[in-house]
Amino acid sequence: MASIGGIMVALITPFTDDKTKIDEGRLQAHIEHLIKAGVHGLVPGGSTGEFTTMSTAERKQLTELCVKFAAGRVPVVVGTGSTSSDEAIELSAHAAKAGAAAVMVVPPFYDPVNLEELHEMLGEIHNASKLPIMFYNIPAASGLTLSPQEIAGLSKVGVKYLKDTSGNAPALTELIFGLSDQITAFNGWDSLTFYGLAAGCPGGVWGAANFIPELAVELWDAVAVKGDLKKGRELWSKAWPICKFLESHNYCAAVKTGVELSGQQTGGLRKPFSLLKPELQAELKVLLQNAGVKTI
Ligand SMILES: *[C@@H]1O[C@H](CO)[C@@H](O)[C@H](O)[C@H]1NC(C)=O
Repeated sequence: MASIGGIMVALITPFTDDKTKIDEGRLQAHIEHLIKAGVHGLVPGGSTGEFTTMSTAERKQLTELCVKFAAGRVPVVVGTGSTSSDEAIELSAHAAKAGAAAVMVVPPFYDPVNLEELHEMLGEIHNASKLPIMFYNIPAASGLTLSPQEIAGLSKVGVKYLKDTSGNAPALTELIFGLSDQITAFNGWDSLTFYGLAAGCPGGVWGAANFIPELAVELWDAVAVKGDLKKGRELWSKAWPICKFLESHNYCAAVKTGVELSGQQTGGLRKPFSLLKPELQAELKVLLQNAGVKTI
């Protein structure tokens, strides 16, 4: 199994047209397309995967399907966060049995936990699953803002990786340069991808990679592998307007709309969410065309 890093796709969950089920065929086709494009990992069951609208049984099914379809070619890091410790533990233990490489855990997001409660929750998840944890730092959704030192300190309870969706570049920098002996920080804020990779993040968890996987992998190769800043900037000038667009609208809706525009059916989003309205779809289509991405 390849190590965890590089371009890791914050995977969408394709549904059937009536949205009552995960669409296995669409999921398999999507994963095949991404792996052929060269991505380095899959992260299902996160924000982009609409986990908040899925039952526990469906989340387990999604994990099993992703591991099966990835077939050992890339690691699968499963989002198992929940507002309840019991559910997060159950999902994490299941992910371990199903063959996940790690679990990604967002802290409870309705009522913020305190640091002590977070330590206990993560420790229990780690004990039950024995998997390394990727801490999903997303203060805007969880209501929990931790300092870089507090985030690195989560390594005491099984956290090995960070998906940083704080949008706080100075804090990310501190984690990369000052605290990397405790935690491996991946960028998780789309519009900071170039900075994160250039500063030395050994990867990023990236929703846009669902529909611009080739561009994402090219950017990784240029900036992180070859250190070719000139080429990296050229690629980033294409990807950045797309990232900015995603962050300016409902993120999952914008990503799923992007996947539809690239010619793959997703089944749309479960209510109360929906694909972007036609005017915004048209706007995204122009950005994709400007970036040289084929659209329908
Ligand atoms: C995890 O397991 C270790 C070893 O059995 C134990 O010392 C620790 O208290 C457990 N942590 C939690 C949070 O349950």
